[in-house]
Amino acid sequence: MNSPHDLVLNYHQRTKHRLERYANGPETLDWDDQPEPFRRFSGCELIALPRPGRELAVLFTELDTPQQIPAHALTLESIGLLLELAFGLSAWKSDGFNRWALRCNPSSGNLHPTEAYLISVNTPALASGVYHYASYEHSLEQRALFSAAPTEADIFIGLSSIHWREAWKYGERAYRYCQHDVGHALGALRYAAATLGWSISLMDAIADAELATLLGVDRDTDFIHHEHEVPDVLCRIHTSASAAHLTPAQLAEHASTAQWFGCADSLRAYHAYSWPVLDEVSNAAAKPRTAPLIKTIDTILLPPALKQHRASTLIRQRRSAQQFDGNMPALPSAVFYRVLSAVLPQTAAFAFWPWRAAVHVFIFVHRVEGLTPGLYVLLRDHTALKTVQAATSERFVWQPQHDTLAFYLLHTGDMKQRAKTLSCHQSIASDSAFSLAMVAEFSTIITHEPWRYRQLFWECGLIGQILYLEAEAAGMRATGIGCYFDDSVHELLGLTDNRFQSLYHFTLGKAQTDARLHTLPAYAHLP
Ligand SMILES: Cc1cc2nc3c(=O)[nH]c(=O)nc-3n(C[C@H](O)[C@H](O)[C@H](O)COP(=O)(O)O)c2cc1C
Repeated sequence: MNSPHDLVLNYHQRTKHRLERYANGPETLDWDDQPEPFRRFSGCELIALPRPGRELAVLFTELDTPQQIPAHALTLESIGLLLELAFGLSAWKSDGFNRWALRCNPSSGNLHPTEAYLISVNTPALASGVYHYASYEHSLEQRALFSAAPTEADIFIGLSSIHWREAWKYGERAYRYCQHDVGHALGALRYAAATLGWSISLMDAIADAELATLLGVDRDTDFIHHEHEVPDVLCRIHTSASAAHLTPAQLAEHASTAQWFGCADSLRAYHAYSWPVLDEVSNAAAKPRTAPLIKTIDTILLPPALKQHRASTLIRQRRSAQQFDGNMPALPSAVFYRVLSAVLPQTAAFAFWPWRAAVHVFIFVHRVEGLTPGLYVLLRDHTALKTVQAATSERFVWQPQHDTLAFYLLHTGDMKQRAKTLSCHQSIASDSAFSLAMVAEFSTIITHEPWRYRQLFWECGLIGQILYLEAEAAGMRATGIGCYFDDSVHELLGLTDNRFQSLYHFTLGKAQTDARLHTLPAYAHLP
């Protein structure tokens, strides 16, 4: 019962929400005792990045072919833009009593467990070392300086998670949400890089333990016990096509010369609850060192976005809808099919994703031009057709709906009430144009590689980030839905075992804004 696979499966089972009982979480929340949303390290130099908020001329639709966007030079200003457009503040909201910050990357409950680190080696912009991005100050905290002899210039962004920050509100299910947030953050980083004419690739071979050392998050005495960070992923930032790169061994060599500075400040909240299963699953799903993956998938060209927006404007204006207009006119079919095409693994947004597409999208169509309301599926890998058919309900009709997309009608009927009930009774799932369940190939993947449990959620988060931005580009809005009744969704789809599992829900439609909330600028607090 104690193999990593068993522990991951046990975690997944026990953190399912059920119609009759939610997964274990805190019984009460003291809102005055929320974790500090911004991590800071005391005792390191703070390097201010150039003033945020600069708009760039690049259009959102140009990000479909990022190789045609002229690359910005690697300067402190472009590094600042990269970090701002990926993880920086996008606005403050106020209801007259409380004020809270929103960021370019979304987060379940706006708790933001994801932290970003920049590793610079021999770049003209920054001394070689490790820097933590402090999003409130839009500054870099110099956590470490390297003293190795100069080699090729290279720059990386590493992500880590403070699970406890999310668990404060969501208890045991929090680990899943932290993984969704990593996926969203990866997507946010990809779009930010593309806006600068840059791209990212994943250092997919490296083990979590190696990444922890690189980022300094294994330095136990620098962190308060429950508030430690767990390493997630390391991305190389490609700032120009011809640059030579460091090998992982060379990067480790630089890191071995690090002199570290500072300690993480306390996130201040009182640790009322403890959820040992979070550390258990986190250890069981830790990634070992693996052979580097080689991506072979061809890319496709998307139907162009219908409206022209500057990418930087769109990225900063991305928000979650809190309510939708249930009387909206049907979503134009051109928008719908652009959105479906945009989440395919062959798009520029997925170019950095080294794993085979494992997530398919079951769609509750409520208000889409040309489509009868009902349940549909988009297979993101059309070769999965027979496997998905074999695992799902025999009553599905599997009527093809499109020439090139593997998009099928499964069942006609008004799905609004079903979608709402399944998504923890949230009307955002029924008042939209469509809502959806991201369903991942599950047991075949995690039986052999339990650490891939996390990547399945990341893939969902990445799809979600694409949906958020595509919705904005179409004048619509979207919202991630982490709260849904897992096995009730499986029952509807006819899934009776672990071959496939629903890992994330989403919804997209015409947002209704809450007039009681005021929006304030993101960085008015900077001098
Ligand atoms: C993984 C994830 C799960 C979420 N689940 C829900 C949900 O179940 N219901 C909801 O109304 N919003 C949900 N959201 C939206 C967040 O509440 C929202 O991202 C956060 O408040 C920050 O606001 P913003 O997206 O406008 O920046 C979710 C977001 C993420 C990333």
